[in-house]
Amino acid sequence: MAGGVRSRCPLLLLFLVGVAARAAASGVVTDGLLPNGNFELGPANSALNGTRVMDPNSIPNWEISGFVEYIGSGQKQDDMILPVPEGARAVRLGNDATIRQRLSVVRKASYSITFCAARTCAQAERLNVSVAPESGVLPIQTVYTSTGWDSYSYAFKARHSAVWLTVHNTGVEEDPACGPLIDSVAIKTLGPPRLTKGNMLRNGDFEEGPFIFPDTAWGVLVPPMDEDVVSPLPGWMVMSGTKVVKYVDAAHHAVPHGARAVELVAGREAALVQEARTVPGRRYRLSFSVGDAANGCEASMAVEAYAARATARVAYESRGTGGSKRAELEFAAVADRTRVVFQSDNHHMRTDGTLCGPVVDDVALVGVRGHTARRLL
Ligand SMILES: *[C@@H]1O[C@H](CO)[C@@H](O)[C@H](O)[C@H]1NC(C)=O
Ligand SMILES: *[C@@H]1O[C@H](CO)[C@@H](O)[C@H](O)[C@H]1NC(C)=O
Repeated sequence: MAGGVRSRCPLLLLFLVGVAARAAASGVVTDGLLPNGNFELGPANSALNGTRVMDPNSIPNWEISGFVEYIGSGQKQDDMILPVPEGARAVRLGNDATIRQRLSVVRKASYSITFCAARTCAQAERLNVSVAPESGVLPIQTVYTSTGWDSYSYAFKARHSAVWLTVHNTGVEEDPACGPLIDSVAIKTLGPPRLTKGNMLRNGDFEEGPFIFPDTAWGVLVPPMDEDVVSPLPGWMVMSGTKVVKYVDAAHHAVPHGARAVELVAGREAALVQEARTVPGRRYRLSFSVGDAANGCEASMAVEAYAARATARVAYESRGTGGSKRAELEFAAVADRTRVVFQSDNHHMRTDGTLCGPVVDDVALVGVRGHTARRLL
């Protein structure tokens, strides 16, 4: 894994050469890993007491406060090995600990942040990610991936051209060191969720979304969010108390259409939602793909879709090797706004303990002519 950064950067540079050249000229942050976003540059030994970082400015590009530890790969706590997903270093945010980095951004542009986090000893860990004046609390008490590391996303709209990205562990544990490990922090500019011809939904194919690290095979979790905040998955909202959906890429998963899709990994505890303008009484057809991500998730799955008063339950027999089918739901609108909702009807788990579920992709909503709103499937 230590070669990850070296192999990744040239690749990113190839893809982003135009963006990078423009951004470099203006000093604006570029898509990809943040400066020292993987914490491979660490404090001098003189700034450490054991693993605890004593000097707030000793991790290059970052500022810290509170109980922050600098963790090397393979380091143990009691009997537990603290693994590091990328490179050899990570930080751990203990009680009331904060890390922050100053970012030069384009004012009014929207950005998503992706970072890897692993729960350690506390049970209900939460991180408050903020770019003032907005903030979001990411619940990380559920471990979704068997490795223990999950990638989380967060999004914000820049109010200023220089902002602080802050990650704060709000925890108050008996052991002040108990808190999540953080590694690999990246940023991506989000395109606005435009409407495309022939679809009343925005970003129906999920091609626009948070940064996915090329060398992580476990996708990116999109956390629940309030309706009025910026979504890392433009156009879409995740509604849940504490659960998430998983954003997956074709490089590591089977994706029904295009390069990205959403895996519903939390059963009925999380819903993927988008609201469209509709005319009451008029009929519409929602069509979408249901499949599996070819990630070994073998199960009898079903996706439930809701719109206005109509529902569809789309059964999908997953062998965990990829595949998909199309499904439809016709409905009559009852209001001038209609929410389309997707959820998995059950929880599923791979044999290694990774939470998984059906994949939804390529969602389209169109008006139809016809006599009755019928329920298909
Ligand atoms: C280092 O940590 C130990 C254990 O918490 C503490 O007793 C000691 O005073 C600390 N040393 C310094 C220089 O802060
Ligand atoms: C999260 O952090 C922001 C910025 O520091 C703060 O305004 C907000 O109150 C915090 N939220 C929680 C729940 O701690």
